[in-house]
Amino acid sequence: MTEVFETFTPEETLEIAERIGRKAGRGAVYALLGDLGVGKTVFSKGFAKGLGVTETVVSPTFTILREYRSGRLPMYHFDVYRIEEPEEMNEIGFREYFYGDGVSLVEWADQIPELIPRSAVRITISKDPSKGFGYRKITAEWPETEEHDDSCD
Ligand SMILES: Nc1ncnc2c1ncn2[C@@H]1O[C@H](COP(=O)(O)OP(=O)(O)OP(=O)(O)O)[C@@H](O)[C@H]1O
Ligand SMILES: [Mg+2]
Repeated sequence: MTEVFETFTPEETLEIAERIGRKAGRGAVYALLGDLGVGKTVFSKGFAKGLGVTETVVSPTFTILREYRSGRLPMYHFDVYRIEEPEEMNEIGFREYFYGDGVSLVEWADQIPELIPRSAVRITISKDPSKGFGYRKITAEWPETEEHDDSCD
């Protein structure tokens, strides 16, 4: 399933992300895609609010990972912009997070495509200067569920 949202202010992006965060389930991974400064961290703040996180969410750019425990589920917020080798993700022990009981958000997920679970939700944010400074298009893609998948691999 794909949903497309258009926003014109950070507040509108926060609100859409909050709604998505409210519905997030245990073990979900969200790949946040889009250029520098497009709004991935703003989205993460709104999402955190939807999960019930009461701590202040700050960009994990310099730490790669920040954990928040005050919400309905643990939230693992990654920014993998600086990751150059999958080995660095192994050192962090990313599998325990991606395949654990919390919810993972991964800014710059396209830096580590081979490590992102196939079940991840893809959130792509883009600008369009012709539509104004604050305009953002947010495309949320949920993977096809395998309920009706008859293949036998
Ligand atoms: N509609 C909008 N939605 C989200 N952010 C917006 C919007 N309009 C303007 N902005 C501004 O865009 C910026 C987004 O910054 P943010 O740190 O969230 O980007 P980012 O994608 O996480 O960047 P980075 O790649 O450096 O991690 C903020 O300064 C925010 O105020
Ligand atoms: Mg960011």
